[in-house]
Amino acid sequence: MSTQSTLSKKAAVAGAQAPDTPARKPMTVPDFRARKGQEPLVCLTAYTAHVARICDETADMLLVGDSLGMVIHGMPNTLGVTLEHMIMHGQAVMRGAQAALVVVDLPFGSFEESPETAFRNAARVVKETGCTAVKLEGGRDMAPTIRHLTRRGIPVMAHVGLMPQQMNTAGGFRAVRAEDQWDDVIADAKAVEEAGAFAVVIEGVAEPLAAKITRSLTIPTIGIGASAECDGQILVFEDMIGLFPRVPTFVKRYGNMEEMMRDGVTRYAEEVRARRFPGSEHTYSAKK
Ligand code: KIV
Repeated sequence: MSTQSTLSKKAAVAGAQAPDTPARKPMTVPDFRARKGQEPLVCLTAYTAHVARICDETADMLLVGDSLGMVIHGMPNTLGVTLEHMIMHGQAVMRGAQAALVVVDLPFGSFEESPETAFRNAARVVKETGCTAVKLEGGRDMAPTIRHLTRRGIPVMAHVGLMPQQMNTAGGFRAVRAEDQWDDVIADAKAVEEAGAFAVVIEGVAEPLAAKITRSLTIPTIGIGASAECDGQILVFEDMIGLFPRVPTFVKRYGNMEEMMRDGVTRYAEEVRARRFPGSEHTYSAKK
């Protein structure tokens, strides 16, 4: 789907709303950036059209995160996620989203080699999904790439602090708590802002460090495991609704979908085995 057709789809849906439901204005990159220091930005991951439709009613931003490798595809980490995975899920999310800003992650191996490779792959993501922006992990090292993309029309959300794609060099998923590591993260955050990122995800850092970064940048900081000292928050949808076994310290569960699903499957199995399902109301009668 092209950007053009996405825009007309958004406009068509806005126009088709019931008269008493005010259409939400689609969130643009400048709108998102202008929320710095204002009402906190509500962000969630989404990987499918249906989840995107539900979250889009409320969220300011939907991230098609490469966490989909673990959450949807059962991978042990995000390193095996491909550009094709991101494009397929990005297309699904774009079919469900109307108002929220949709950002798609660039997966490991698709952007680090050179700014030119990053542009080629990011442009594919934008063209083939119709999303507005991409996100990439990296600080000072990725600043030239961020500059290259933003100057060529691809808005970039950066990602600093705990970077899951660097788990092998870091020796795992390690939150940044020790004060002697703070200056590096601050320098990364400043470098990505200076390179043109419109916002930055800060993952897994101590609260005073998140506060320092948020105060020192003019772009919104979006926290995950980075305290309330950020301009917005993001959670993985499945973590938030209780549909993924891993519960990191920073996740608050707002539901227990896993329990609901298990209960539904158990009751279905019982009724099938007892021949109580399907009932007459679920059964076609013959037509004369
Ligand atoms: O991939 C992802 O879901 C992310 C968020 C955790 C920020 O990068």
